Amino acid sequence: MSSIRVAILGFGTVGEGVYKTIYSHQDKLSKALGKRVEVAAILIKNKNKYKNRGIDNRVLVTDDYEEILKLEKLDVVVEAIVGQEPALTYLQKAIQKGCHIITANKEMFAVHGSKLQDLAMKRGVGVGFEATVAGGVPVIQTLQQLLNINRIKKIEGILNGTSNYILSEMRTNHLSFSEALQAAQEKGYAEADPTNDVEGYDAFYKLMILSEIAFGGKPEWANVPREGITTITEEQIKGAEKLGLRFKLIASIQIVAGEIVGSVRPTLVTESHPLFNIEGVENSVSIEGDIVGRLTLQGPGAGMLPTASAVIEDLIHVVRANHHSLTQFSLKEGVGLVEDADEEG
Ligand code: HSE
Repeated sequence: MSSIRVAILGFGTVGEGVYKTIYSHQDKLSKALGKRVEVAAILIKNKNKYKNRGIDNRVLVTDDYEEILKLEKLDVVVEAIVGQEPALTYLQKAIQKGCHIITANKEMFAVHGSKLQDLAMKRGVGVGFEATVAGGVPVIQTLQQLLNINRIKKIEGILNGTSNYILSEMRTNHLSFSEALQAAQEKGYAEADPTNDVEGYDAFYKLMILSEIAFGGKPEWANVPREGITTITEEQIKGAEKLGLRFKLIASIQIVAGEIVGSVRPTLVTESHPLFNIEGVENSVSIEGDIVGRLTLQGPGAGMLPTASAVIEDLIHVVRANHHSLTQFSLKEGVGLVEDADEEG
């Protein structure tokens, strides 16, 4: 039986989670796709750091992306690195090679997502980006499904697990901001540079990705107020608690008088607010559609396995959805891609 060959770019929390889950759930994957999924290559930054991290020695581990592009057969490129570049260039090259792409990189996708999707469509390959927003919570898939019939009016929620975790720990366990941040880093929730988490940029990028899907566009970024949680003190959290209030970093986007209007800001909420009880690394996204009304999704917004789950759901989705076009590409252009399952024994 031939296999679906995957390259993972980046071996941090997300990359490692994807690698482990592919092998721990091989039976389920094989059943879903009719083929085994094999990690053919891993792109790492520092060759000395990957040792003793459980990577099979048949996997090409390299710090040179060109070596990965030279692989004769490669079907899917999973990108789990940080920042716009080189991630964008890597994914453009993967698309040109005829690979499906899957990304967990919010900043890159918030800025370049449409461009990558156009390129992928022209090349007949798929793009998965469920892991860019709300970790393991299937918000992208849900939105796309709702949009088949609904007009989206508003999206509101907690989109950054690290900030929510920090606020919860400061309130319930009386940790200082830096102690709580360190705990979030140790648990693999925070970004390598946590500035994006605590200053609201991470939630902002996620909100822009949701805006593009829900409203077919984004507001002018400069017009979206963005504030993080770094100015909230332990005293303020205690004072709010005495009044029965909690701080939540709320991201919101909606259409107002024909314009897309969004914001990311810490907000004091009362017990009756739907986000009051969202604690720890949980994310919650409430979507309002003209037909469905308001629905809320809630679940782990960060962490190795929840994010890996989102990436692998995408993997199954893009491979299934693009099966036939891939067959054509491999026939026409000689790029070694997924063969037709019917031809297999
Ligand atoms: N650092 C992000 C968060 C990871 O805390 O939400 C998931 O996108």
